[in-house]
Amino acid sequence: MEKKTKKYYIETYGCQMNKYDSELVAGILGKQGFEEANSLDDSDLILVNTCSVRQHAENRVLGRLDAFQQLKQKNPDLKIGVLGCMAIRLQDQLLRQKSVVNFVLGPDNYRSLPDVLAKLSNGERQSRFSLAEFNNHEIYSELYPNRATGFSAWVAIMRGCNNFCSYCIVPYLRGRERSRPAKEIVAEIEKLVDEGFLEVTLLGQNVNSYHDENHDFADLIAMVAELPGIERIRFATSHPKDLSLKLIDAMADHPKVCNHLHLPVQSGSDNILRLMNRNYTRSHYLKLIDAARSRINNPGLYTDIIVGFPGETEQDFQDTVDLVQRVEFDGAFVFKYSPREGTAAYQYKENLTEQEKVARLQYLNQIQDAITLKRNRELVGQTQKILVEGRSRKAKPNQYMGRTDSNKIVVFNSDNNYKGLLKEVQIIAAEGRTLFGEISQGVR
Ligand code: SAH
Ligand code: SF4
Ligand code: F3S
Repeated sequence: MEKKTKKYYIETYGCQMNKYDSELVAGILGKQGFEEANSLDDSDLILVNTCSVRQHAENRVLGRLDAFQQLKQKNPDLKIGVLGCMAIRLQDQLLRQKSVVNFVLGPDNYRSLPDVLAKLSNGERQSRFSLAEFNNHEIYSELYPNRATGFSAWVAIMRGCNNFCSYCIVPYLRGRERSRPAKEIVAEIEKLVDEGFLEVTLLGQNVNSYHDENHDFADLIAMVAELPGIERIRFATSHPKDLSLKLIDAMADHPKVCNHLHLPVQSGSDNILRLMNRNYTRSHYLKLIDAARSRINNPGLYTDIIVGFPGETEQDFQDTVDLVQRVEFDGAFVFKYSPREGTAAYQYKENLTEQEKVARLQYLNQIQDAITLKRNRELVGQTQKILVEGRSRKAKPNQYMGRTDSNKIVVFNSDNNYKGLLKEVQIIAAEGRTLFGEISQGVR
């Protein structure tokens, strides 16, 4: 009798690295003969790739696991696995307290997935496994991700982090920093070109400290920019202490490297930057922004900010507001400080109430929204090249969206679905964080 193909469903939380890892895992499952399920209901295996960066991220997953209880009641053979950062931080708790979870697998342990699945299918339905061990050599060479879109790809160039920013749990969950050899990265991207991909985003917690034996990050970017067939290169994330002028020049010199720079500042106050163990000053950061603006043509500048870090005074917060107003970022991701057990800052005394943190978050978001709108309005009337990603999120019929080189979202009407194509649009309006455009006539 023919065996029914097993189906998997992966839900991904957290950063782009997790999205890449989910695609790696999908690649591993593909080799095992699994197919992707259309819905949770029709899957034999559900994997949740998790994030621990803030308490809120963990709470979402914990709630989600409870909701899976129903699915298990309907299908007792369903297997549920927890992957990613929570697997390291909470492995015991997950196995003890969440009875729906069959296994837990850490970010360095995905190669073991086939073994774990084999054990589960041989063993008792109730048997449960956990493997969440660091392997500081794991860079997943020779494994090829099964990617969701056919035109834009994430490519991990390094894993782990050595920075130990005092608030951050990532170095404790992802292990030490290691880079993939440039040759291997280039080979992966060449293969992507053969498959029709146009855009790559090179990923690491701190891409500026990338190095293999012979290349630094600026060298790598230049190598990728030389590859025929790749139209757009992005990267995330940069650390201000390691961002080099050589990289800024590489961005300026290679038109295919997008004029898009995500440079988390975290705080505009030197006191707080010191307490955060960020290893740069406000003035160093502002110099980098000046260098980027003077060398790169109208770069899209984005940042991350934490408000309410322990000890953040009203003056410290005003320093951050001032920096935001000075730089005029194109966008900022503002987070409320979330204490993470095991980090250095967990020992620091918090001085703000939850309401005070929320007020700072809302205030800064308001300031930034006005700046984003102002920056976006400067583009009205211009022609921009966008890579069309598909239907827009809150799509009306015939409404699509794409991204500019500088990573701004443009919504436009069209009778055709140009998904995966580069198109020129004229920017006709800016509203909130979104641009509206019209497809320019006479372009392919
Ligand atoms: N490695 C990247 C991003 C790490 S996590 C980098 O350094 O840029 C993404 C963002 O989450 C960080 O930039 C920071 O702004 C935020 N973040 C990290 N830990 C946090 C915490 N404990 N509380 C609130 N925000 C946090
Ligand atoms: Fe966390 Fe800092 Fe490393 Fe980013 S650079 S992952 S914020 S420790
Ligand atoms: Fe979250 Fe882990 Fe990424 S904690 S932000 S998924 S590295």
